[in-house]
Amino acid sequence: MGSAESAGGRLGAVLSAPRTGAVALGPHGPWLATTPGLAKRVLTDPASFDFPGDVSRSGDLSGSTGDTRSGHTVFAPLAAEDVAQGRAVFGDEWRAALLAHDRSEPATPYDAMALLRRPVARSTAAAVLPGLATPERDLVADLVLAWVDALGPVIAARRPPHRWSRARRAERVTRVALEDALDPVADRDRSATQLATMLAAGTQVPVAAGAWLIAWLAQHPSEAPGGTVDPVHAVWETLRLTPPTWVTARITTAEVDLDGQLVPQGRVVLVSPLLLGRSEELVPGDGERLADFDPARWTDPDRRPGAWLPFGAGPHACPGRTLGLAQLVHVAQWASAQEIALVEDVSVDQSRGILPSPCRFTLAPRRGPSP
Ligand code: HEM
Repeated sequence: MGSAESAGGRLGAVLSAPRTGAVALGPHGPWLATTPGLAKRVLTDPASFDFPGDVSRSGDLSGSTGDTRSGHTVFAPLAAEDVAQGRAVFGDEWRAALLAHDRSEPATPYDAMALLRRPVARSTAAAVLPGLATPERDLVADLVLAWVDALGPVIAARRPPHRWSRARRAERVTRVALEDALDPVADRDRSATQLATMLAAGTQVPVAAGAWLIAWLAQHPSEAPGGTVDPVHAVWETLRLTPPTWVTARITTAEVDLDGQLVPQGRVVLVSPLLLGRSEELVPGDGERLADFDPARWTDPDRRPGAWLPFGAGPHACPGRTLGLAQLVHVAQWASAQEIALVEDVSVDQSRGILPSPCRFTLAPRRGPSP
């Protein structure tokens, strides 16, 4: 599998930055917070580091004009009973997706991203909109997937596409269709726009994370959670090495002093869970082998996974973290009974977060002990 270390592009630039504090990646930034303390400060001090106004700008952060999203909604974490519902739906839908593939195209390899789309979209819709009957929930899930697909080219574009470009129009049409479907369930606390954002964030990111998990477990069959390794550890190891939201941005609201580096107002500061996940300070095990997939490193109960912020931190930390973890743990548990073989080499697609591409695989029942 192509490693993040050799991926190049923006990802390569971030990974090769010296870990000396705040590092300017260009003459006018963006600045990268390379130490855990600084990264946490950036994410947990919204008065100095505001949310970017246009998230699609993360495609070209150097072009930022420094506008922010002050007053942007803070999403409440999902309630435990809603997560339980989302988890149950994921289990049913994952089984259904595998069966549907086996019935309709048994000779074709599975495509991890394609296989995960429906189970994740329906599970997340069930958790975010627990009052919805199944047919309406499934319709919403399909509309979310259509919007997520249409957003792809807008986010991946090197320059923000023109308002009347085909990409922007497709994005608008699919977003409006989703928001129209959400209008009847929106209320004062959660507008249709906020619900749509939550559903899209809660679909696109877990699909990418689930595909990475399958790719890692296929590459490391002996480490697959077949009894010796906890599936939860495999999930954390995936979120450490290939966190789908590998970099996130904030805009300075005033000049700030980042450990001696003065960053002017209106500039972009980046935090990268991918970089922090390779920090000896936060990750147990041999410092020379931090790029290796090794779920067993999390067996020490004194070392807490997640300190590299794969779900962010502060007021914009992920409200769907528990559900995302539940979906991924289900996939890891399922994988423990399978021999997964990748059909071809997987490389890192950086067009939208990070995605494993292609990620096609075949399955055989696992020999030997399984839980
Ligand atoms: C493995 C799965 C997931 C991962 C790795 C993940 C990761 C993240 C990260 C890193 C952020 C913070 C971004 C930032 O600071 O700029 C975030 C925010 C967010 N996530 Fe997740 N997420 C996952 C699953 C979900 C799910 C299942 C939902 C919804 C049910 C969700 C909804 C959101 C929302 C709405 C935000 C924006 C919060 C805000 O701006 O205030 N995520 N997520």
